[in-house]
Amino acid sequence: MSDLFSESTTGTGERSKELTSLIDGIEAVLPQARQAISAAPDRKAIEQLRVEFLGKKGKITRLNQRLGKLSAEERPIAGKLLNTQRTEITELLEKRTAELESRELDARIAAEALDVTLPGIRPARGGLHPVTRVAREITDIFRGMGFRLESGPEVETEWLNFDALNMPEDHPARDMQDTFYTERGHVLRTHTSPTQLRSMLAAKPPMAVVTTGKVYRHDSDATHSPMFHQMEGFLVDEGISLGHLKGTLHEFLRALYGSEVRTRFRPSFFPFTEPSAEVDIWSEAHGGWMEVLGCGMIHPRVLQNGGIDPEKYGGFAFGLGIDRMTCIKFGIPDLRLLFENDLRFLRQFQG
Ligand code: PHE
Repeated sequence: MSDLFSESTTGTGERSKELTSLIDGIEAVLPQARQAISAAPDRKAIEQLRVEFLGKKGKITRLNQRLGKLSAEERPIAGKLLNTQRTEITELLEKRTAELESRELDARIAAEALDVTLPGIRPARGGLHPVTRVAREITDIFRGMGFRLESGPEVETEWLNFDALNMPEDHPARDMQDTFYTERGHVLRTHTSPTQLRSMLAAKPPMAVVTTGKVYRHDSDATHSPMFHQMEGFLVDEGISLGHLKGTLHEFLRALYGSEVRTRFRPSFFPFTEPSAEVDIWSEAHGGWMEVLGCGMIHPRVLQNGGIDPEKYGGFAFGLGIDRMTCIKFGIPDLRLLFENDLRFLRQFQG
């Protein structure tokens, strides 16, 4: 800047008053600008300062207009100085803008940053349905006694579901089970007992088999569902007696419910067993005895239909209601809760 002054002084020796005042004016602008720009809090403030200093009515423009009053010799002196100031202010504005931009970016990055130390959201984990759990537990107990696991179809022939089990067309027992009919000669199996015949027809005694699966009856209330789960078990060998049946079931019920379980054997009737019985279990949740199981010694005609000589072999069979056993085990008062699939209910039984 001292160069500029020496230039002006060497030329004429004397500066005009106008030049001196203009130079003072010009020199006062930069410190003002520098201070204001460095204090500008955001880009909006920068824009205002650009207008204030460099805009059409801005300080530099107004000083520029005063150049016209200078002589032709003095004009370049002030003009040059004004230009350097303008460039300097432009640079200051740019620098500050860049600074603010990077600060904004830093703030945004900080705000959007992932906190990797936060605990994650646990994905929901599924669990086994209480009926599945009890079904597995029951099959495990029987497998431990030497029974093998088999399965049968849910759409069954009328022959295997009824006739072969000693329930011919006109047999009153057929009304005991309200049946869903599908195609001609087929039904949704009303019990798992037809699997007895399927197993007998496929193998030779001695044999001990269990099957679990869905069965269907036209029936619905707090203790009946139109679809429910049964487990069938049967054993065929020489010299099998009712004692074997009672002992097996007693052992099973103690294994499932503990040695304090209260059970009751009642004489009953099934066309495919003779003699027949039903087993009840005392249920706290229901405040009474619940029938959970039908059983008996396999009827000679059923053995015959299964290709087994009833003179040589005998056997016992039982069918149990897995859903009811589940309700008793967990103290569930209404069987229908098992099939509503309300997660708040099911979660209580996640093991
Ligand atoms: N199938 C019979 C029922 O569903 C139960 C049962 C099975 C009874 C085996 C005796 C023997 O009611």
